[in-house]
Amino acid sequence: FGFSDMREGAFTVRAASGSRTSDLRFVSATAQEGKPALGGLPATFASDAKTLRLVLRDVVSGLRVTLCYTIFEDVDAIARSVLFENEGASDLHIERAMSLCLDLTDADYELITLSGAWSREREVIRRPLAPGETSVSSVRGASSLQASPFVALARPDATECAGEVIGAALVYSGNFYAGVHVDQHRMARLMLGLHDHDFEWALAPRETFQTPEALLTYSAEGFNGMSAQFHRLCAEHLVRGKYAHAPRPILINNWEATYFNFDEEKLLTIAKTAAKVGVELFVLDDGWFGRRNDDTTSLGDWQVDERKLPHGLGSLAEQIHGLGLKLGLWFEPEMISVQSKLYRAHPDWCIHAEGYERVEYRQQLVLDLSRAEVCEHVYRSVRDILAASPIDYVKWDMNRNFTDIGSAALPPERQKELAHRYMLGLYGVLERLTTEFPDVLFESCASGGGRFDLGMLYYMPQTWCSDNTDAVSRGRIQYGSSMVFPPFSMGAHVSAVPNHQTGRITPLATRASVAMSGCFGYELDLNALSAEEIQEVARQIERVKKLRQTLLYGRFYRLRSPFEGDETAWITVAPDQREAVLLFMRAMARANTMPELVRLYGLNADMRYRVEETGESYGGDQLMRQGLCFALPTGDAASVSLTLRALE
Ligand code: DGJ
Repeated sequence: FGFSDMREGAFTVRAASGSRTSDLRFVSATAQEGKPALGGLPATFASDAKTLRLVLRDVVSGLRVTLCYTIFEDVDAIARSVLFENEGASDLHIERAMSLCLDLTDADYELITLSGAWSREREVIRRPLAPGETSVSSVRGASSLQASPFVALARPDATECAGEVIGAALVYSGNFYAGVHVDQHRMARLMLGLHDHDFEWALAPRETFQTPEALLTYSAEGFNGMSAQFHRLCAEHLVRGKYAHAPRPILINNWEATYFNFDEEKLLTIAKTAAKVGVELFVLDDGWFGRRNDDTTSLGDWQVDERKLPHGLGSLAEQIHGLGLKLGLWFEPEMISVQSKLYRAHPDWCIHAEGYERVEYRQQLVLDLSRAEVCEHVYRSVRDILAASPIDYVKWDMNRNFTDIGSAALPPERQKELAHRYMLGLYGVLERLTTEFPDVLFESCASGGGRFDLGMLYYMPQTWCSDNTDAVSRGRIQYGSSMVFPPFSMGAHVSAVPNHQTGRITPLATRASVAMSGCFGYELDLNALSAEEIQEVARQIERVKKLRQTLLYGRFYRLRSPFEGDETAWITVAPDQREAVLLFMRAMARANTMPELVRLYGLNADMRYRVEETGESYGGDQLMRQGLCFALPTGDAASVSLTLRALE
């Protein structure tokens, strides 16, 4: 920006003179094997990759910019990030620092975004490009429920299985901008990176600033082709640790069963039934600490509430383990309640604007993780509990966004650094905890999927997809989420009916069929089910245990979009194509129907498959050219979940 290209540029750096003009000139280009880590930020890793570094230097200010590009041997993707360095003698101020800028020679694309709200996360929105700017963004301090740090540009004729699609996603969990500008000559410029709203970064001489990493994918095989690249990036180059490729434990979570109203006995009653039907992990959600009988108090006071758990967490863990279950625990470590010992001790530890009313949101404030001592405290509160009791799983929740943004510790001229410093602080805490507790399975959560992004996935291999557990809604939410995120990253549970979020009654079979396309679990009081339902639950669990390697780590193809009609269909195919699981669901009952016919994808054309539930067998080529024919049960939210197995 500042010379003859009149469009907005990918970065703005203000020199000591006040000038925002930059004239970057080529200094060097080097290629190296592999991919270096990004200091303090989540990013993809790869050994079988090549990285190109282009170094440029401003002719006046001493600004040095390194553009970093990695290509991967096994994925059609480019990772791109930028490093800013001040080689001059005076301070520089970064006002904008995008991670990715892609100029396209035409604008004959449609823009696809994942936009939503609480309980309606990641709806697939498709709109044509037009002159001017089209964008999605978050300035909420988190990637957010409302927008996802992802866009796709698709040719108008692109479908799930055919056509050209460019996908871009940011490995970051805070404020972001993702947008396209179409200029007077109908050329499109895609930009993705940190949002420049309320952002500025002071760069003293010899200091550096690293942008988050953006991932760019290309597919000539439609949206499924794009998603396959993102899923592979997640599986092979982003998610780390013991659970990266492992079967995820089938869990039961007490939240929708009890909310805050539980005691040890009630929990154990649920856990005992869970153990009998084959559940593997019992998760104790919100309300076990401080004096938390509702959401008005105690965040920050991470000591067990002995009125509910008189024998403490250690004893609970022992009893749960005694039933053959693992134990999981809920935390919301980034938050503070005004009614808490922590707030009384440190009223300035929250994000707040000096002199203004502190805006509460779900009766809570956000801890200021731009401060090292606050990060240390957050780290210790969780570490102490994990070190004292054998906890196998952590649900890391975050239930509000930033308001009245200010830090008591940052000087006035650096206040606009807060949102990004917060993310760096959080990532530092997560790096320490996940390194120190490598056997703990972490699941990230933010009022459901309010921070479901590639940044959090780097630390935590699964995310609670949405607080909406209604099977029909979940069809939409998981369908949209799968544009970027693989099945193994999506927490999905069977809950009670009428559903607590929508009031809808759906068959137990449908609830399980949708949930098993993610990290499967239950979130209801099993003791409230009938004997027949309990038997059905036991059968569901047995089936998921047999199929979960394919369901979690197979290749996922979306077949029918709930955003285009009343039906949701997808199929997950094992890497060796010998096993596949098809889901088909119709939201509203329809009278006088023919059997359904769905064309399948991803099978081996030369193999013959037997559908376990019907006993029929078909050639893979037939299933992919003509489709699979099956009868759908009657009623609302009717579904089939069919297992296809290759015959020898
Ligand atoms: C929001 C989460 O999304 C829910 O699953 C539950 O953990 C509540 N928070 C608890 O407060």
